[in-house]
Amino acid sequence: MIKWCVIGAGGIADRRTIPALKKDENSQLVAVMDRVPEVAKAVGEKYGVPYFSDEKQMLEIVECDAVYIGTPVFCHKAQMEIALEAGKHVFVEKPVAFNAKEGAEILEKFKKAGKQLTVGYMMKYHNLHQKAKELVKAGEIGQVNDVRAQFSCWYPDIKGAWRQNKALGGGGAIMDLGVHCIELVEFLLDDEIEDVKSFYSTRSFSYEVEDGAVLIFRTKGGVLGHIDVNFNVPDAASTSKLELYGTKGYILCSGTLAQEETGSLSHLFAPQGDYEAAQVRVERKPVEYKPEGEDLYLRQIKDFTRILESGKPDYFYAERAVQVQTVVDKIYSEK
Ligand SMILES: NC(=O)c1ccc[n+]([C@@H]2O[C@H](COP(=O)([O-])OP(=O)(O)OC[C@H]3O[C@@H](n4cnc5c(N)ncnc54)[C@H](O)[C@@H]3O)[C@@H](O)[C@H]2O)c1
Repeated sequence: MIKWCVIGAGGIADRRTIPALKKDENSQLVAVMDRVPEVAKAVGEKYGVPYFSDEKQMLEIVECDAVYIGTPVFCHKAQMEIALEAGKHVFVEKPVAFNAKEGAEILEKFKKAGKQLTVGYMMKYHNLHQKAKELVKAGEIGQVNDVRAQFSCWYPDIKGAWRQNKALGGGGAIMDLGVHCIELVEFLLDDEIEDVKSFYSTRSFSYEVEDGAVLIFRTKGGVLGHIDVNFNVPDAASTSKLELYGTKGYILCSGTLAQEETGSLSHLFAPQGDYEAAQVRVERKPVEYKPEGEDLYLRQIKDFTRILESGKPDYFYAERAVQVQTVVDKIYSEK
């Protein structure tokens, strides 16, 4: 049984992660902490556990194996260090840190201490994204040549919001939504984005970070692609897209980049031999897949507890989370 403490209990922790911890038979929530005492109290009482407004005090008093950090980006590095100094395994929310340098430094400390570090990129636990990866791996769309990901939401001006402040969030739509797309593309292709170019701007709102961006990229393996992320599209109009085109067909996911296992996947296998000058588009029926409707966050927690129970830390995805920040660093250093 893995005993968990939570740092930053009020946002995604309360909405998604703690409910997932409560569902996992190998996890036990033992305490929560939030900088805002009323939030700590409300979440602690909701789940029937002790609550704190100081993370060091919580880790001194409460015995636990792992710490989940669900705080704003500017808190991640210092709180990962505090948890590691207390001898804990850590599951930190995405993005791992402000930049690749910070991420690599902290990852190195976890490796030296032999403690697990996991970063909250849960999109890869959506069963349709796992299906997409399985199809790609099995060659069901041939050589993948072109990938597109589009992810958006509505995020208007909010006074004091940390995500709208570069010094607190590290960036805007790229740092918040783009990182999910980059990580997912790398997961699906088992490849890394090597070159990236971008346009980004703040167009619909007045905050200092970007509210929209278009990224184009090439992976080490030569796949070309683009990612569009927006904070300025109403939620009801934000139907995410993920498309992979290869020499033998396509995989199209619609509505799958989300906090719930929603959307659909269509797969078309249509290999072609000779050149056909008329390019007749014969209607072909793709195979449709539906999600299983499971909790992505629970799958992610189960993966974490599985690693801890194996007794061997696995840094593969933490290294990828650092690699994602190298792509983001390149984008932000262009302007
Ligand atoms: N994986 C996902 O699905 C997902 C979704 C949303 C957010 N996130 C990530 O989770 C993190 C938090 O985002 P959010 O939307 O929950 O933010 P939020 O602002 O809604 O919630 C953050 C919580 O942390 C608390 N907090 C702030 N500073 C703190 C500190 N120094 N110590 C302790 N608590 C502190 C706040 O009071 C608040 O309760 C970010 O890294 C974000 O990118 C991930």
